[in-house]
Amino acid sequence: MTTFRRTFISAAAVAALGLATFGATTAQAQAPTLPKLKVGLMLPYTGTFAALGTAIENGFRQYVAEQGGKLGGREIEYVKVDDESNPAKATDNVNKLIKRDNVDVLVGSVHSGVAMAMAKVAKDTNTLLIVPNAGADAVTGAMCAPNIFRSSFSNWQPGYAMGEVMAKKGYKKVVSITWKYAAGDESVKGFKESFEKGGGTVVKELSLPFPNVEFQALLTEIAAAKPDAVFTFFAGGGAVKFVKDYSAAGLKKSIPLYGSGFLTDGTLDAQGADADGIMTTLHYADSLGTPRDNAFRLAYAKTYKMQPDVYAVQGYDAAQILSAGLTAVKGDTTKRAEFTAAIAKAKIDSPRGAFSLSKAHNPVQDIYLRQVVGKENKVIGIASKSLADPGIGCKI
Ligand code: BEZ
Repeated sequence: MTTFRRTFISAAAVAALGLATFGATTAQAQAPTLPKLKVGLMLPYTGTFAALGTAIENGFRQYVAEQGGKLGGREIEYVKVDDESNPAKATDNVNKLIKRDNVDVLVGSVHSGVAMAMAKVAKDTNTLLIVPNAGADAVTGAMCAPNIFRSSFSNWQPGYAMGEVMAKKGYKKVVSITWKYAAGDESVKGFKESFEKGGGTVVKELSLPFPNVEFQALLTEIAAAKPDAVFTFFAGGGAVKFVKDYSAAGLKKSIPLYGSGFLTDGTLDAQGADADGIMTTLHYADSLGTPRDNAFRLAYAKTYKMQPDVYAVQGYDAAQILSAGLTAVKGDTTKRAEFTAAIAKAKIDSPRGAFSLSKAHNPVQDIYLRQVVGKENKVIGIASKSLADPGIGCKI
């Protein structure tokens, strides 16, 4: 069924591309327009990650708009699905986009469990997939494929960078706390790997099911354990509540809180003074001050009447990755080998700083150490230069 659809779409696209050539060689007539490229945005628009989904879509649309609405000569048409950050619905949702809506490219998602379901279907059906957030290590590890790309990070990356930072600071005993699912588990795993290499110990690993925010009992456990510091992964609405509860429990004054940068990205307006001083590691920050980032931020703020965050950058860069492939094949997505080779060679001119993709198609990028000052995640330095995910299990 899927194979038939793909062949049918290809034939239409190829016919249009052929006509374009024919038209040009006969009477220099106006080239017929290529069919629109259907982009399936599978993102959360409700729930704890709703704002993240919207920021990704905004960023993606911003890049497309800057290119005059076309990538690789093809106008972009969007089909949207609210995946609710629900892995149980993910396979049905992605199948609908592929089979019912005939999308050419999938862009999604935020939640690691949802993205893994998307990657499985994308791999089985050979559909192009660009992951604009979810860090599930397997997506660019054991599940990697020539048609799957990521514009964001692997869960291992910010965690690993923070483990090095905290070991160098001399912390010995750390408690971790997170949601019990791939993103939380893998962030803590990455953290533990470098922190323990640096001489520290994770004395307790606390967790609660996603997307629960009943932190009180766990905060009591942290207070009782009296660690030197806490490492955490939370994001979106859950991160807002965690930072506020941590402070309200009186822990902010006695046990320093660290995390991967999602803890304080896109959340500072709601967290207010409770977030002040928190240090995190991430591949983006609010105060990079480069001409590239300044231009991006200005345009984003003008269009969307709010400041961009890491999610907006990742959406913007997902469109840039797609553009690199489409431009090389002049919009003909059937030329898969050339499409993939062009992306592999591309240097993505990201607001975060230019990056290229690893062999497994994950960004090789600087991870910044940031600190919350007022309403900004200010850069303190680079925690890890050109950090590449190990891509364990990837065979491409
Ligand atoms: C994840 O599930 O991979 C994820 C969600 C929000 C922020 C970062 C990662």
